[in-house]
Amino acid sequence: MRLLTVVLGSAVVFAGDAGSGGAAAPTFSKDIAPIFQKSCDNCHHAGTSAPMSLMNYQEVRPWARSIRERVARREMPPWHLDKTAGIRQYKNDISLSDDQIATVVKWVDSGAPQGNPADLPPAIKFAPEDEWFIGKPDLLVSTGDFKMYAKGSDWWIDQYAEVTLTEDRWIKAMEIKPSNRRIVHHCVVYAIEPDAPPGTPESGVQLTEYAVGKYGDIFSENTGRLLKKGTQLRFDMHYNASGSEQLNHTTMAFKFYPLGVTPKYQVRSYAIRNLPNDELEVPPNSIVRTDGYFRLTRNARIDTFQPHMHMRGKAMTLESINLDNTTTLLSSVDHFDFNWHINYVYADDVAPLLPAGTVLHMIAVHDNTSANRRNPDPNMWVGFGERSVDDMVQVWLDMVYLDDAEFNRLLSERKAKSRVPPRMQLSPGPPR
Ligand code: HEC
Repeated sequence: MRLLTVVLGSAVVFAGDAGSGGAAAPTFSKDIAPIFQKSCDNCHHAGTSAPMSLMNYQEVRPWARSIRERVARREMPPWHLDKTAGIRQYKNDISLSDDQIATVVKWVDSGAPQGNPADLPPAIKFAPEDEWFIGKPDLLVSTGDFKMYAKGSDWWIDQYAEVTLTEDRWIKAMEIKPSNRRIVHHCVVYAIEPDAPPGTPESGVQLTEYAVGKYGDIFSENTGRLLKKGTQLRFDMHYNASGSEQLNHTTMAFKFYPLGVTPKYQVRSYAIRNLPNDELEVPPNSIVRTDGYFRLTRNARIDTFQPHMHMRGKAMTLESINLDNTTTLLSSVDHFDFNWHINYVYADDVAPLLPAGTVLHMIAVHDNTSANRRNPDPNMWVGFGERSVDDMVQVWLDMVYLDDAEFNRLLSERKAKSRVPPRMQLSPGPPR
């Protein structure tokens, strides 16, 4: 998997070098600013926890080298899928195309010229900090204040808050807002339900997350998720030190379907784990593969895919073992980064539709060698645990169960749409 990244990287460099003799070099004003406005500035502007603003040439220029490196390695924007494998369309895909990457690399290699400011696209504005993008919330749930120290390494902590509902409600949309974005790298909120079925992690099932550039979820029409009365919310917080002591509390906002309305498609979250006991042992200087399985007892549509590992996490693949004993690769993350909790949301037309009896298969790789950039200590023995220095292996899926009639209806709808010869649907593989 690492090899793929390297191959891509060098192919891109080659494209840049080859081009520099021919067509005019790209400029910031004409070629780079439009890419950054669309794919970077949402996170990289003043007041977020991203390390720098990239809104204009003066801000961007000092970072040119680092930008080239991060972009060529496909680490920025954060999107860690192997784009050449499995399902290609995701609703929240923020990655750059091969062409865009080549343009950025070529621009830096040509000395990162500014070009003519008259070529700049119109400036963009971001929504005010206090605006809820889901609209007016029906319920707000807040944690208490947390005090983050001025200097030092990042800090991970769980904060809890009770949901104050007197009856169960169907969620239409949800959003998370920290009071102090500067120090919050990300926050994942989990629901710990009063009567969760056996096999549910004690630490809860994921509801949604906040990270720079991502605030929450609005379910599609007629789709929702149940929030049970008596649920406790666990806010899994990742804080950055910012140079001075800072406070933060985090608020989760919900919008519900009207009382008495039950959405037709009901989203449930599952974690495929290494059962029975989440066993995981990653000896020093080793690479370990782990498999997990989940048999669908009903027809299902899979809406999202989210690998969950910690610092030694390296790669994770999800495949289906079909009723005819073939396998289908659904999604594969090949350069996992624990800093980022990315939930890959399948586009409507490609979300896997799987009949009852299909087995979902998770294949995970942990890399406890020094080749893993995120590894704090390759000589440490690592086992399963909640702390970041321990590790985990789970894949989280949002699923909707479908009865036979609905399942067949969706299948035939999809067949009708995809009357394109199958070969034409494949995107080209990596450059060689
Ligand atoms: C989803 C939010 C997000 C998006 C989109 C994003 N970044 Fe970042 N970027 C961050 C955060 C947060 C960090 C610091 C943490 C890390 O390195 O993972 C970062 C780090 C970086 C760094 C390393 C800075 C350093 O300290 O060395 C560079 C360079 C960078 N981003 C460039 C870009 C460029 C160029 C784009 C667009 C093509 C982009 N980023 C898109 C959030 C984002």
